[in-house]
Amino acid sequence: MQEVTEIRVDGKLLSRVVSGADVTGVTGLLENYPHVWIVYDANAAAHAEKVEAALRPTGKLGGILEIEVSEEGKTIDTVLGLQEWLLGAGADRDALLLAIGGGITTDMAGFAASIYKRGIRFAFIPTTLLSQVDAAIGGKTGVNFHSLKNMIGVIRQPDFTYICPDVLDTLPARDFRSGAAEMLKTFIIEDGGNYEKAVKLLGRINGGGSLADNADELRRLISAAAAVKAGIVSRDQFESGERRKLNLGHTFAHAIEFKARETGSDITHGEAVAIGIIQAARLTDKTLAEKIRSDFRQAGLPTELPFPLESLEASMLKDKKAEGGKIHFVLIKTIGDVYTQDMTVTEAIEKL
Ligand SMILES: NC(=O)c1ccc[n+]([C@@H]2O[C@H](COP(=O)([O-])OP(=O)(O)OC[C@H]3O[C@@H](n4cnc5c(N)ncnc54)[C@H](O)[C@@H]3O)[C@@H](O)[C@H]2O)c1
Repeated sequence: MQEVTEIRVDGKLLSRVVSGADVTGVTGLLENYPHVWIVYDANAAAHAEKVEAALRPTGKLGGILEIEVSEEGKTIDTVLGLQEWLLGAGADRDALLLAIGGGITTDMAGFAASIYKRGIRFAFIPTTLLSQVDAAIGGKTGVNFHSLKNMIGVIRQPDFTYICPDVLDTLPARDFRSGAAEMLKTFIIEDGGNYEKAVKLLGRINGGGSLADNADELRRLISAAAAVKAGIVSRDQFESGERRKLNLGHTFAHAIEFKARETGSDITHGEAVAIGIIQAARLTDKTLAEKIRSDFRQAGLPTELPFPLESLEASMLKDKKAEGGKIHFVLIKTIGDVYTQDMTVTEAIEKL
């Protein structure tokens, strides 16, 4: 059975988030597309091969390309490589580009599709927990530039995002935990009774529980988190208000990731977000911040700043969301209730 959440703006259907039981279920969504081109992350090859096998007999498959992904390789050059591939192999304006992979793959493929022949349609099968609850929903696409995260890109919606938890079976535990951070972030923004349930589930999995044993609850919570994000995007597609809440922890996270790249340290986006959320919580309520720290530890997430706060100041100032020297910080009133407040970086650091 498939569950569908629609992203509508002013009544117009822009995108759909569909959850299904297994990856081949995507073929049901591809019926109306004459030509499908697949780009997939090499680490998600096992899942892409299943989709390819299901699609090939239909005669719709225009081409298929495997890419190696890394944050360093999330560049305009890689996106130009995708243009070369599509053009060289004759993809036309009626092509649908289907990206199978984590957030790096979906961000780059969405951007590549958005500029190829002034924009072709695209869709995603996110294969990391992080991309299932966040990156593959909402239409933010793009690449890094000059060591700055997601500096170049556009907001353009995928026709659909197909979510199936079976693809998580091959995901390394560390990447699973990164996604756990974005799931917990989502429920801190809009709880719906799910935050504490997610802490318990993620704690069980971090403690050694298998995904298979926890599959039903995991599927339910992924769908719930994806629906929260879809709802927020429907109400504020271009991030002029409510969508900013999704940046909870991200001003700190982006600065941590920038510093990590500068110093050659190894930290994932989700890990940086987990640490960033705790710093954001400290801006309003240090007791709540300690509760969140303890919850995140249960989920196996890092919670301590890996660099001195002062050393993050310069990169926080480069935040692309800064306006007039002030940043829209997302602050937490309580679990399920967050709000934005404009502050300078200096004002924020003084509060910590
Ligand atoms: N567009 C948005 O709204 C948005 C939101 C949040 C994050 N992002 C972006 O998403 C990226 C992070 O996403 P991510 O954590 O999914 O990163 P990712 O795409 O790098 O995936 C993480 C790792 O898991 C591997 N992988 C992916 N699927 C796998 C599978 N099923 N089995 C085994 N290995 C697998 C990848 O090769 C990679 O090594 C960042 O670039 C971030 O900027 C975008």
